[in-house]
Amino acid sequence: MGQKAVFIQTFGCQMNEHDSEKIFRILEDRNYRLTEDINKADLIVVNTCSIREKAEHKVYSSLGRLKRLKEKNPQLIIGVGGCVAQQEGEKILHRVPHLDLVFGTHNIHKLPQLIDEVEESGKRLHETAMYDSIPSLTVPSLPVQNQIKSYVTIMQGCDNYCSYCIVPYVRGREMSRKSGEILEEIRRLSESGVKEVTLLGQNVNSYGKGVKGEMIFPELLRAVNKIDGLERIRFTTSHPKDLSEELTYSFRELDKLCEHIHLPVQSGSNSVLKVMKRGYTVEDYIRKVERLRKIRPDISITSDIIVGFPGEAEKDFEETLRLMETVKFDSVYSFKYSDRVETRASRLPEKINNDIKSKRLKTLQACQEKYTLARNRELEGKDLGVLVEGTSKTNPLRMTGRTRSNKVVNFEGFSHQVGCTISVRVRRAFLHSLEGEVC
Ligand code: 5AD
Ligand code: SF4
Repeated sequence: MGQKAVFIQTFGCQMNEHDSEKIFRILEDRNYRLTEDINKADLIVVNTCSIREKAEHKVYSSLGRLKRLKEKNPQLIIGVGGCVAQQEGEKILHRVPHLDLVFGTHNIHKLPQLIDEVEESGKRLHETAMYDSIPSLTVPSLPVQNQIKSYVTIMQGCDNYCSYCIVPYVRGREMSRKSGEILEEIRRLSESGVKEVTLLGQNVNSYGKGVKGEMIFPELLRAVNKIDGLERIRFTTSHPKDLSEELTYSFRELDKLCEHIHLPVQSGSNSVLKVMKRGYTVEDYIRKVERLRKIRPDISITSDIIVGFPGEAEKDFEETLRLMETVKFDSVYSFKYSDRVETRASRLPEKINNDIKSKRLKTLQACQEKYTLARNRELEGKDLGVLVEGTSKTNPLRMTGRTRSNKVVNFEGFSHQVGCTISVRVRRAFLHSLEGEVC
């Protein structure tokens, strides 16, 4: 039988991007090749995200657009995976009649079997069972030729149940992968030329917790740091309440661990944090930031903030602005609160109206732009190590890469520099990038 073409569309976070890689890996073994032309696909897989309402809306409008392709080619199989699939299950099949298959976050490994079943029976299927161990968690990242950076899943799921968050419901309970398997995968990636790995998980710093005989996160980092050939280690996402002293010291002790941490604070108001069930106060958070900066003064700190959480008063919002002024994050991803099914926050009274949420978001973003620019300007005149990733998106004569602190740097260079770490002097700082020249 000839090769078939699969088109994979991914919504949402790095975890989903990485899951899509796994989906392809599994399908590749079943004689599928990847196509970038959706019109040529025999199979379309949409990997979805439901973290916020807006993300879910995007998924449904995108699914709606696939109807005409199915009408043109009734043999086409359309499958939906990821968090919306997990959350909605069979309901998506009713809502979107041209879909063939819905598979949940724990069922990626079953995809070939489900596709065979759809082909043979012509039935529309859904599989959203959740398990105590997920077989696809062990599908290793694929070492692609000339790949410089790679993601490696170290754990999945979350047990924190922050009151606004759907993740524990759609990704399931926390599960850590075996450290031996993770290290073996990173060794293989490094041998194939990968220079930078990002360890992925919903809450990476609780890696290994409660698993008998397993390493805890700082121990895993130490082991990864010893892998030959590897130059940079990153991890995401960390929970402030689990940022231990030991982990903080890793930023000084481990030469490969990059000086950047994404540490979502969510709000600068203690009363909001309490209802969010985040498990720390503003004062705890600031103390941890101060300790990070004491141990690693050049560390870059980024965060996530939600505005308009139920009951958030103007005073609470002002406290968030004050926290931002105190910490001066390198950058912030900010979101308007939206209700998510099953979460506790969705049942809270005192919902904030959308105009107020929009106004707060705008104020917060304008404020953060000043801090981001100021933080970036501090780097002007400095010589920084840049891992060259490729040609710049906007100008093919320029090269682009990242500093260890995760800032994008564009500079005039040559394609043979890709994959090398070179020293670049920062000439000008912008909001989203730095401009430099090779020193
Ligand atoms: N509404 C708005 N933002 C949310 N996030 C998670 N759940 C919600 C929600 N219900 C944000 C948090 C989280 C990021 C990934 O998405 O800031 O850190
Ligand atoms: Fe969601 Fe909180 Fe878990 Fe992060 S730590 S995934 S915000 S429940």
